[in-house]
Amino acid sequence: MMPPGAGGGATSVGRMCGIVGFTGSSSAAAPGPEGLAVVLEGLRRLEYRGYDSAGVAVLADGPGADGTPPGLTSAKRAGRLARLVEALEESPLLEGSTAIGHTRWATHGGPTDANAHPHLSADGRLAVIHNGIIENYAVLKAELQAEGVVFASETDTEVVTHLLARTLAEQPAGGAGALAESMRRVCRQLDGAFTLLAVHADSPGTVVGARRNSPLVVGLGDGANYLGSDVAAFIAHTKEALELGQDQVVQITATAVEVTGFDGTPVTPRAFTVDWDAEAAEKGGHPWFMDKEIHEQPKAVADTLLGRSDAAGAMVLDELRIDESTLRGIDKIIVIACGTAAFAGYVAKYAIEHWCRIPVEVDLAHEFRYRDPVLTPRTLVVAISQSGETMDVVMAVRHAREQGAKVLAICNTRGSTIPRESDAALYTHAGPEVAVASTKAFLAQITACYLLGLYLAQLRGNLFPDEVAAVIGQLHAVPAAVQEVLDGAEAVRALARELVDAPTVLFLGRHVGYPVALEGALKLKELAYIHAEGFAAGELKHGPIALVEPGQPVFVIVPSPRGRDSLHAKVISNAAEVRARGARTIAIAEVGDDAVLPHADVVIRVPAVPTLMAPLVTVVPLQIFAMEVATAKGYDVDQPRNLAKSVTVE
Ligand code: AGP
Repeated sequence: MMPPGAGGGATSVGRMCGIVGFTGSSSAAAPGPEGLAVVLEGLRRLEYRGYDSAGVAVLADGPGADGTPPGLTSAKRAGRLARLVEALEESPLLEGSTAIGHTRWATHGGPTDANAHPHLSADGRLAVIHNGIIENYAVLKAELQAEGVVFASETDTEVVTHLLARTLAEQPAGGAGALAESMRRVCRQLDGAFTLLAVHADSPGTVVGARRNSPLVVGLGDGANYLGSDVAAFIAHTKEALELGQDQVVQITATAVEVTGFDGTPVTPRAFTVDWDAEAAEKGGHPWFMDKEIHEQPKAVADTLLGRSDAAGAMVLDELRIDESTLRGIDKIIVIACGTAAFAGYVAKYAIEHWCRIPVEVDLAHEFRYRDPVLTPRTLVVAISQSGETMDVVMAVRHAREQGAKVLAICNTRGSTIPRESDAALYTHAGPEVAVASTKAFLAQITACYLLGLYLAQLRGNLFPDEVAAVIGQLHAVPAAVQEVLDGAEAVRALARELVDAPTVLFLGRHVGYPVALEGALKLKELAYIHAEGFAAGELKHGPIALVEPGQPVFVIVPSPRGRDSLHAKVISNAAEVRARGARTIAIAEVGDDAVLPHADVVIRVPAVPTLMAPLVTVVPLQIFAMEVATAKGYDVDQPRNLAKSVTVE
């Protein structure tokens, strides 16, 4: 039996998209139809979520210039949001105080104008936008086509549009709540993961949304209300938000928000306040969001540490909603994550096993539930996710909880699905990470994992209080060490410009340096589109060394000479091995380590820090290197090709 979400072959994969809905007047001082402006501003902040096409629909407040009755107008274009804006300047839409908008990451049907959202009903009075997968779209589409419905696109979304139009037609004409009731009835027929927004000309001043396994949050304004796939959609207007849960429908008007289950049962959503401001989500003078976020790493670590230890250096994690007796009984930890977040988990494994003497497994979330993992009530599953919406992780979390394990989310985004569906959450405080390539979240995730490990070690008595306090002190010294690397980064940028045409790059590391090698390779792949590979340095002689060509750049993350065992000597000999075969070795080594000099063509210095703190500083030159190579190649660093910030499909 195919795993969930794999049905329907290659066509039934979903998308990650930016979604915005608005109705009302965002400023009482200047009332007037501003639906389009508010939605376009929200889409601009969400464009990182997907940028293959963009579209908007506006419910006109009054009759058209030619006296036509008020109705719905829309526009959509393949390509970046800028192309849609150009189209709107050439052919303006009717003004209206109610609008929805969408930026798409195309997977199901190519990035074309026809496949762009919104999708309209045959009479043009209903518009729908969608993020996710309608897994049973093919059956539903065939039924609709058998009824004579003609489809204008290849998307699964259009199925919802026609189902909604058909269901609306069965409702009492124009009845208040008809659109919401129709949405509930349609959602009950859908399988898969979806966030939907709809507007209809017969329901002026109303936006209806629905969510299952896909993000949607409500923004609460004064005389206006907002919907968004994340809070960035409306952060410029309000910080007061509502968290929508699984299988819920929401109806917003300028003055009211009504939430029900798909069955119509009223729901009281949880309110929260967004702790980001609009400015924080902008570039702050940096050329790229990624550059800004790399430079925010000292603050991301410091903020994640804030308030989590007391003056004596003892851990204070009272936000964890897992009781202490359960935590004392944990006999295994399994980290589940994807991409960069998974590499943070690999780093955490070394620290937590060292401090707590609990076995720690690390699973790529999309592999986790298919390996039939051994889970018991004494298993703590730690789900690491910056966005909190990575579908692979959401599905792994569900599996873990079904099997009776306790789940703790380490997440950067409040109001998101993964912490909401976990038993407890330990939030990183890295602030909004807008660049698709994750940087400050990586450091914050490692920091949060270390806090968890120290808390467990303190609770279970594996570490004495003075030992916990010592490590907390080491963590508090990390921001300054990272700042030192940032201040000396020009050499890395120069090296990047020199190596801009390298066809392939290797990264070697041992112990906690091995996940750093993996992360360095991922950054270069996803930003500069260069083939790169990270290896455990000891694995080189078991095959990969055959890859080494004369002049081949090989980064070597060198452990501290003050570290335990002879890791340092072994890695130095690995550097010598590749250099003897013509590689151009670039050592990331701590200041004062001169043993590396005979074996490296380039040495990038980082401050001397304790072994377990090293990943937090050695990764920074690799982030900068990848960003600079991509910049030198003229690529869009913040929105690399084929990628989206949050992978909300399996
Ligand atoms: C990181 O640079 C990548 N963009 C990607 O691997 C990312 O880390 C991964 O998709 C996990 O995202 P999450 O942390 O939001 O779950």
